[in-house]
Amino acid sequence: MRAQELVESLGLEPHPEGGFFRRIYTSPHAHHTPGGERPTATSIHYLMTDARPCGRLHRNRSDILHFFLEGDPVEYHVLDAEGRHRVHLLGPDTPGRLLTVPGGRWKASRLPPGSRYTLVAEVVTPGFDFADHEFATEHDLPPARLGLFRRFLG
Ligand code: GUN
Repeated sequence: MRAQELVESLGLEPHPEGGFFRRIYTSPHAHHTPGGERPTATSIHYLMTDARPCGRLHRNRSDILHFFLEGDPVEYHVLDAEGRHRVHLLGPDTPGRLLTVPGGRWKASRLPPGSRYTLVAEVVTPGFDFADHEFATEHDLPPARLGLFRRFLG
């Protein structure tokens, strides 16, 4: 199965959000942020599979660029700055094969039914740090969005 081949050939490991990942780049340059010093950028390979089709709703202080690499299109469910629910499809037909999510936005991924796997590259800038990362609880969501997002609460 292709997803298992990718786990082995790319050396991926389970990620707490669901799926598998490996860090592929850490900038040697430092950036000062309100949370402390971070690399200017980091990047990972991230693989989602049908074994666990919904990622957990989370947010990060940094901007995140998601580049589609291989597999099936994937949905990203994002709450915009006004708390509106936006669904972005990232796949081979997405312009530039790129989805950018600004820092601070709640986000969850979902493989649509019938999909097998999706491999993306994520670039995080300033670089990823778990201190900048937060999983949502139901108290973080606008009450009107709770029904829609409950399946992403982990
Ligand atoms: N999510 C996006 N980038 C990263 C990273 O570098 N490490 C971890 N653990 N998760 C990430």
